Amino acid sequence: MTLNILYLALDLFLRVAAFSLVPRTTWKFSEVNLAYFHAPEVFNYSILLLSEDKKVLYVGAREAIFALNSLNIAEKQNVEYWKASEDQKKECAMKGRSMQTECFNYIRVLQPLNKNALYVCGTNAFRPICHHLNLITFKLEGRDEDGKGRSPFNPMESYTSVMVDGELYSGTSFNFLGSESIIFRQSQQNQLKSELYAQWLNAPSFVSADVIRDNNTKGDDDKVYFFFTEVSVEFEFFGKMMIPRVARVCKGDQGGLKILQNKWTTFLKATLLCRMPEWNYVFNVVNDVFILKSPDLEEPLIYGVFTTNLNNIGVSAVCSYSMSSVEKVFAEGHYMKEVAVEEWYTKWVRDNGEIPKPRPGACINDDDRAKNYKSSLNLPERTVLFAKYHQLMYDLVTPLGKKPQLIKQDVKYTQIVVDRVKAVDSNTYNIMFISTDEGTLHKAISSEHGMHIIEEIKLFPVSEPIQTLLLSSKENQRYIYAGANSGVVQSPVAFCEKYSTCIDCVLARDPYCAWNPHKLICVNILKEKNMEWDLIQKINGDASPCIGKVTRSNIYCAS
Ligand SMILES: *[C@@H]1O[C@H](CO)[C@@H](O)[C@H](O)[C@H]1NC(C)=O
Ligand SMILES: *[C@@H]1O[C@H](CO)[C@@H](O)[C@H](O)[C@H]1NC(C)=O
Repeated sequence: MTLNILYLALDLFLRVAAFSLVPRTTWKFSEVNLAYFHAPEVFNYSILLLSEDKKVLYVGAREAIFALNSLNIAEKQNVEYWKASEDQKKECAMKGRSMQTECFNYIRVLQPLNKNALYVCGTNAFRPICHHLNLITFKLEGRDEDGKGRSPFNPMESYTSVMVDGELYSGTSFNFLGSESIIFRQSQQNQLKSELYAQWLNAPSFVSADVIRDNNTKGDDDKVYFFFTEVSVEFEFFGKMMIPRVARVCKGDQGGLKILQNKWTTFLKATLLCRMPEWNYVFNVVNDVFILKSPDLEEPLIYGVFTTNLNNIGVSAVCSYSMSSVEKVFAEGHYMKEVAVEEWYTKWVRDNGEIPKPRPGACINDDDRAKNYKSSLNLPERTVLFAKYHQLMYDLVTPLGKKPQLIKQDVKYTQIVVDRVKAVDSNTYNIMFISTDEGTLHKAISSEHGMHIIEEIKLFPVSEPIQTLLLSSKENQRYIYAGANSGVVQSPVAFCEKYSTCIDCVLARDPYCAWNPHKLICVNILKEKNMEWDLIQKINGDASPCIGKVTRSNIYCAS
């Protein structure tokens, strides 16, 4: 009985503790000297891209593209203004759109095309267009092309894209009203689209896209992943039930021959589960996804930031997933299918019927080629027909550790990037940088010692949503870039030098920072050449090694 009460009390304590996780340190905008960029009369710095050598940061804003020095973004190297024409703006206004906010060219795609050019697309006052930006002259070159399917018409609508071997994969809305959404690939030979059925995509809000290269085990294909929140078809709910998804297509997909002509034959999607198992608390909206790829990782890791629209409490979470858990659902999971319950009423259930071979939605690999299925164009009709009506997997993708990596109350997380650092204890830590809708950045780790928010950095002078984050992880020059409506900010990944005592330095539990007992300063270990020095760092926060060493704090105490 008493024990029960104790458990209850403990449970309550744990809940409050988890939810009220506070950053150990908060840096005000004025306390950290961050490089900042904005140009007069230019707003909406929504898209960031690093050059291949990481020396230049490209920024896509409203009617302008900038090239900035990535080591100091306050240094502008180039700008190309790209405005919607006056005629186009008038037409946009005539269709009832706002001249003050909507009828502009908002840059929505900024992707590397080749060594000398970027591929750029913009909303162009509700008539999306794309162009090539010559990186030598920094001018738009040649003729613009129709940007339908690559950029939304409406700047308020979601968009995502990734360039893979010169072909753009995009997820966005497809028409003026924003009522049709597609996953699209434009290549030299053809266009490939998703079907306009609710079961393929149902009012999706796209958040990110990325490519995962095949690891060459069975002559499999490269795969492109899309992450979005959409309205579920499979749950019966009194309103619209939002649900977070991961979808996948294969690079080699050429569409079907008769069925699914110029449509994906490899489009599959699954639900990302992010919840607190003990409280049945579900995070059903995904705001951003970052795929952590590193040569020292066995496989890529997916990090998503989630919120919920189910309860009115502002709680955000980070859940992470292994790539293989996603692949397993696609390769071995059950499909869902729609069945008619009554004439006018259908229901989504697990499909227990026989699955055609080759497996619908699977990429073509060596086994298939051996059976003479050399391309999606000569797959058996049964497989393609099945693929047309079965995109949604029944099995869910469950997060690593079966629970969130981080939960935070009273905050709306918007974007995430993750860095990896080998700490002094020679363990490697994944460090999450998560932005909020109030212009701040949280730096956090999740280890066997629990969740820990190392610091909160106020990146912007005023409270505004951070819309895009980018990490540059060059060896010892690592930066976070953040874009918002008012400008772009560049922040170092750590502020070790701000910790003035050994105890402060160690209690920060920051894998980048360690106390140098010889120089008596808190140093960034990535910049430390003499790692053989006995740097003091304890990710578990045990500051006892500081005691008894000659430290500046001891000196202060003595004086
Ligand atoms: C662009 O920025 C302005 C100024 O902050 C803001 O009012 C507007 O809503 C933004 N537009 C979009 C499409 O985000
Ligand atoms: C290749 O990828 C698969 C699926 O993600 C994974 O299970 C396997 O371990 C990987 N193999 C190698 C050699 O990396």
